[in-house]
Amino acid sequence: MSRLLDKLTVKDFVLRNRIVLPPMATELGSGKGEVTEGLIQHYIRRSRGPGLAIVEHSYVSTGGRRSENQLGVYDDSLIPGLSSLAEAMKKQGSVAAVQINHAGSKSSSDVIGAQPVAPSPVPPPRGGDVPRELSVSEIEEIVEQFVAAASRVVRAGFDAVEVHGAHGFLLNQFTSPLTNKRTDRYGGSLENRVRFPLDIVRRVRDELGEKVLLLFRLGADDKMEGGLTLIEGVRIAEMLESAGVDILDISGGHCGSAPDWLKGPGFFLHLSEAVKSAVSVPVIGVGGVTTSEFADLSIRQGKADLVAVGRAFLKDPDWALKTIKDLSS
Ligand SMILES: Cc1cc2nc3c(=O)[nH]c(=O)nc-3n(C[C@H](O)[C@H](O)[C@H](O)COP(=O)(O)O)c2cc1C
Repeated sequence: MSRLLDKLTVKDFVLRNRIVLPPMATELGSGKGEVTEGLIQHYIRRSRGPGLAIVEHSYVSTGGRRSENQLGVYDDSLIPGLSSLAEAMKKQGSVAAVQINHAGSKSSSDVIGAQPVAPSPVPPPRGGDVPRELSVSEIEEIVEQFVAAASRVVRAGFDAVEVHGAHGFLLNQFTSPLTNKRTDRYGGSLENRVRFPLDIVRRVRDELGEKVLLLFRLGADDKMEGGLTLIEGVRIAEMLESAGVDILDISGGHCGSAPDWLKGPGFFLHLSEAVKSAVSVPVIGVGGVTTSEFADLSIRQGKADLVAVGRAFLKDPDWALKTIKDLSS
């Protein structure tokens, strides 16, 4: 039986415990997506304690930008700022990752100055612009944008890259039957809907080699009528493992990461538990975890191998340090 404060070794990396700072957008980037001093200070404080700290979703291309002050990884000129961030976080003892993302239809013409793109011309289920359908060559181009972004993260000195495939952003728009109405090889069957995320994972793995940790945040259940189901989510997790993912970060909810109808401690831990029973790579669970006791219990009960604590950690930057103290006494 594992416990929250047990170490976890993944490849050459030793995570000092099973606490994860999950990616959470701060809007502390500059207008061009550069790292700012405020952003560095935010992450220094929250890298004290957790085994793994994941920097918020960062846009792989200007067409995939979600918001004005989002962090960016779309150009080599951003690497020096990212290097300062990596160095500052790793000094605190966390394994450090950056989540890379393309917002697809969840962008807006106000932010990107053009019509957002998506698998099909279907607006996001909770409203937004009608997007433009991507051509096959554009899909292949976005695969390469993810590869280039991942390479920048690693060149900046981070230990790990997380590909964002949850919360209704572009990759989730492909996996979900609600937003993917394509009739070509990227739409229809589950194998077709997952082709684009799998192409990204395989190409990133090829490019970065085996030394770097590759994480994937999977929306394992859309939690919407007609959307991706957990049965399909588990199947996708198995395919991601075969494609070379080292750690599966399991979330859900097509429309948002923590919608107000999802409440209570551990609201997505049934998803990580289901995935954990089907794969052999470590699995991160998340959702409404706020106390050290509950986080430890979740690990002991085998709901996940690692527990991510979002809003509680945002509110209290010392959450992990306090938890370590609590559980050590
Ligand atoms: C302010 C805020 C920003 C978030 N930004 C991201 C993000 O950039 N990427 C992501 O995958 N999830 C994001 N999330 C979701 C969190 O990572 C987490 O999965 C969610 O808050 C549920 O965990 P919690 O109940 O412990 O807060 C965000 C959540 C919040 C509250």
